[in-house]
Amino acid sequence: MMKEVDPARLPQHIAIIMDGNGRWAERHAMGRILGHRKGADSVRVAVQTCRRIGIKCLTLYAFSVENWLRPEAEVRALLKLLHEYLEKEVQGLMDQDIRLVAIGNLDALGEPILAKLNEAMARTASNRGMVLNLALSYGGRDEIVLAAKRIVSDGLAGKITSEQVTKELFTSYLYTPGLPDPDLLIRTGGEYRISNFLLWQMAYTEFYFTEILWPDFRERHILKAIADYQQRERRFGKTSEQLRA
Ligand code: IPE
Ligand code: IPE
Ligand code: MG
Repeated sequence: MMKEVDPARLPQHIAIIMDGNGRWAERHAMGRILGHRKGADSVRVAVQTCRRIGIKCLTLYAFSVENWLRPEAEVRALLKLLHEYLEKEVQGLMDQDIRLVAIGNLDALGEPILAKLNEAMARTASNRGMVLNLALSYGGRDEIVLAAKRIVSDGLAGKITSEQVTKELFTSYLYTPGLPDPDLLIRTGGEYRISNFLLWQMAYTEFYFTEILWPDFRERHILKAIADYQQRERRFGKTSEQLRA
C-alpha cells in the first residue's frame, strides 16, 4: 500500500528533470515533437498538484545548454512550445497565485521568447502562493563558471576581498539567489544521472528516480515521490542518534 503524504513534512522545494518525451513518442509511433507536446500537459499537472498540496517552490528542467545540440527542427519545436506555454499559461499562474522565475542563459532563447518570459515574470512578480522556476538553456557548470567570473570581476573592481568569498556569498552570485536548495529531485524516464542540473544547489538533495516517462507523469506519481521522500532520514553528515537526540 502506498504511504500517504504527510502535509506537515512537505519538501519546500521540488526540482524535476522532465525526461522521456522522445521515448514516449517512439512507443506511441509518433514523432519526438508530439512527445514534447504531450509533455506540456504533464507540466500543467505538476504545477497544479504542487501548488494544491502546498509546495513552496517547483523548479522544472525544461531545456539544458546541451539540448542546443539536438537537431535544429527539434530545438525549434521546443522553443515554439515554450513560447506557447508562456502565452497560454500565464493567466492560469495568476489564478493560482504562482510567481514565475527562470534560470539559465536566458539571452540565448532569442528576443520573442525573452520578451514573453520577461512579461510573464513581471506580471506574476507579486504572487506568493508558489514559485515556479523554469530552467531554460540551463547548465550547472555554466552557472558556477558565471558566478566565478562575476566574483573575480567584483574583486578586481575592489568590491569584495577573497576573505569575503564564502559559500553564502558564492550562492548569491548564482542564478538562484533567494530560492532554497531543492529538498527533492525527481527524474522521470528511467535515467540515473543529473545531466548538469543544479550542481551546486543539490549538495544535500534527496534523489527519486522513476521509469515513468514524462508525458505519463501524473498527480499520483508526484504524491508517491513525496511519500518516498518522507520515509528518508536526512542526516546531513550526522548520525541517526544525533538526529533523534
Ligand atoms: C525530455 O525528453 C525533454 C527535453 C530534454 C527537452 P527527451 O526529449 O530527452 O526524451 P528522451 O530522453 O529522448 O526519451
Ligand atoms: C535532461 O534531459 C534535460 C532536460 C530534461 C531538459 P536529457 O534527455 O537532455 O538528458 P541526457 O542527455 O539524456 O543526460
Ligand atoms: Mg532525454
